[in-house]
Amino acid sequence: MLDKLNEIQATALSALEEVQDEAALQAWKQKHTGGNSELTGVFKGIGKVAKEDRGKVGKRANEVKVALEAALTARKSEVKEAALARSLEEDHLDVTLPGRPFRHGGIHPATQTLRRTLKILGDMGFQVYTSREVESDAYNFEHLNFPPGHPAREMQDSFYIEGTDTAQVMRTHTSPGQIRAMREYAASNPENPPPIRISLPGMCYRSEQITHRSEIQFNQVEGLAIGEFITFSDLKGTLSDFARRMFGQHARTRFRAQHFPFTEPSAEMDVECFLCGGEGCNVCKKAGWLEILGCGMVHPNVLTAGGYDPNRYTGFAFGMGTERQAMLRHNIKDIRYFWGNDERFLEQF
Ligand code: DAH
Repeated sequence: MLDKLNEIQATALSALEEVQDEAALQAWKQKHTGGNSELTGVFKGIGKVAKEDRGKVGKRANEVKVALEAALTARKSEVKEAALARSLEEDHLDVTLPGRPFRHGGIHPATQTLRRTLKILGDMGFQVYTSREVESDAYNFEHLNFPPGHPAREMQDSFYIEGTDTAQVMRTHTSPGQIRAMREYAASNPENPPPIRISLPGMCYRSEQITHRSEIQFNQVEGLAIGEFITFSDLKGTLSDFARRMFGQHARTRFRAQHFPFTEPSAEMDVECFLCGGEGCNVCKKAGWLEILGCGMVHPNVLTAGGYDPNRYTGFAFGMGTERQAMLRHNIKDIRYFWGNDERFLEQF
């Protein structure tokens, strides 16, 4: 009987070496360890073995059983590994290859500056008002007190839209939104139009020669405040505060007289160059000051066009270029980078 057990073991183990896949493993298990296997037969017939041999045979039968089970487990993992190796070869998939690094996107530097500008103005009580990008000639120029043939009109070479009855233009600045906002506010209560404090962000378009200083599209942020007792001091205080929040608490400002058709009086605000502290450098072109925005008291004709009585209401407005501010904040030398989609540029922000 012991010889028979040895033979059962030897036969089973050598058969196991031939096994190559999962199905054959199952078949082998059934044949050599299952209910109808020779080994099970030995266990079943143990009662018929002579009493004195029974212990030895039983012990040996158990050993064989344990050996076969261990061999099966070992063979199982070999078969599995072989299958994986085969699939790697067939699928050309290398699971040992390191993963590709996950690339994080970032916020475009112009958008970062735009958001910062709107956040600061928001903290100061200016609510965002978005207006359209395609405007009529009337809103872009006429209601803003640019009479036909006004020389300032020539300054803004515009993209006109073809095939429309009335002249349609890609807005050359965010100022036409002032009229739209005023008219909307005034319509809510024509007898007593409510005060206004809004910021108007948006893309503007000009048919210009593209250079390191000028692009054909760019972002502006406009501001508008209308009320019954607003003065030029409010304008200066508000914009100087804005400059401190934007460029640092020690940022000094100055206002220079300027001309815009839609404001009277008009000014430009400079901020002391924050790169050289006013000493004079390449960025401020040795001037010590950087021009940040245009501003002024809303012209009576503009108030009238917006539905606000200029004898009762006053207000101030301002407009600034977002890319220009981003260029100053980050010392960017060429405005064309903003539309270049060059990752080497974008990755720096
Ligand atoms: N619209 C002007 C421009 O595009 C900027 C500007 C200047 C806006 C003065 C204003 C302002 O509201 O008061 O150059």
